[in-house]
Amino acid sequence: MPQKIYNYAIIGTGPLREKPGPTGYGMANTHWPAFSSSGRVNLVAIADLEPEHSAAFLKNHNQTAVTYTDYQKMLQQQQIDIVSICTWPDAHSELAIGCAKAGIKVIHSEKPMSDTWNGAKLMKAAADEAGVLLSFNHQRRHIKLFQHIKGLLDSGVIGKLVQIEAHCPNLYDWGTHWFDMLQYYNNECDVEWVIGQIESHTEHRIFGQRHENQGMVAYRWKNGVMGVLLTGAPSSIGCAQRIIGQDGIIEVLNERKYRLFSSKGNPAEEVEIPQGDLSDHQLTALDVIKQLDEPGHVSFLNATNAIRAAEVGFAAYYSSLHRGRIDLPLSYGGNAFATMLDRGDMGPNRKALEE
Ligand SMILES: NC(=O)c1ccc[n+]([C@@H]2O[C@H](COP(=O)([O-])OP(=O)(O)OC[C@H]3O[C@@H](n4cnc5c(N)ncnc54)[C@H](O)[C@@H]3O)[C@@H](O)[C@H]2O)c1
Repeated sequence: MPQKIYNYAIIGTGPLREKPGPTGYGMANTHWPAFSSSGRVNLVAIADLEPEHSAAFLKNHNQTAVTYTDYQKMLQQQQIDIVSICTWPDAHSELAIGCAKAGIKVIHSEKPMSDTWNGAKLMKAAADEAGVLLSFNHQRRHIKLFQHIKGLLDSGVIGKLVQIEAHCPNLYDWGTHWFDMLQYYNNECDVEWVIGQIESHTEHRIFGQRHENQGMVAYRWKNGVMGVLLTGAPSSIGCAQRIIGQDGIIEVLNERKYRLFSSKGNPAEEVEIPQGDLSDHQLTALDVIKQLDEPGHVSFLNATNAIRAAEVGFAAYYSSLHRGRIDLPLSYGGNAFATMLDRGDMGPNRKALEE
């Protein structure tokens, strides 16, 4: 029997990606080829505030689709099965809520979830209430190396998990990937508490959001495992992730290579895990589509998993503001880093302390 073809739409096509970078990355130009290569979707409509972005997108991908500047109008006029949200993070929550209320069955949004903790909670609640599937593009879960590492942890090769350390450029834009990955390693366990400190002395915007120059977060999951994330170049830990068990250590060197130190005598050799024929983005698209093919299949990029990562990040910001350990659930609904910057507690406009 021929497989069903689903109606697919994008919100936020972006300008053409001339130079990859933290402004105007054009992630829609990654979503569409990934979904298109599945052979399972028709691009029926796109919405972007800038008509020239939509026009350039269609021309670039040699597609025809109805274009809109108002995404709500698109939702009203089109029959859409799957939508990708590819705008900057400050718009994710409002757009996902709009799509959920319109009953779009599958909403796949770019990360990070939202620019505030309340925004993240509201978008998940709207999807739950409408009974639609909301997922986030933490596509690294579909990288073979990380799945191999999870398999090693499940096999018990380093014994009982004790602590996972990670390093990346920042807590929010990049950190969401690592917080999410650490959740995956630790079986989606709930987090008990978070303590964090961040430092900001220059204006540092990525995808419209302000980011710290350096940060450190320690947190404890309810199963007793500790997580540590250090951010900013000066705080390198010599690898991307170090996973410590009672009988050994795995160092994840990059997205293809790891090294295993085992008390059972394995030599600490570098092992390479190739990605295979399909990219992480293509595997993500297939996983998201499968949710419509097979009722009951829920992508592991789902909002329930993603929101744990978001909560740790926002709790780390709040810990820095509050100067204390934050026991979850996090009550502060805003973005404490933005609050500190706006108050002049830190950042380029920091007020000098009185002697
Ligand atoms: N998953 C990854 O590895 C990865 C990598 C890079 C970027 N990203 C994420 O991708 C997201 C998009 O960033 P980008 O730089 O690709 O975006 P972009 O600037 O290239 O495009 C965003 C587009 O959204 C449009 N837009 C904004 N608000 C809108 C609205 N309300 N309705 C319709 N259109 C609207 C803008 O006009 C713009 O054309 C960010 O959240 C970023 O964190 C993810």
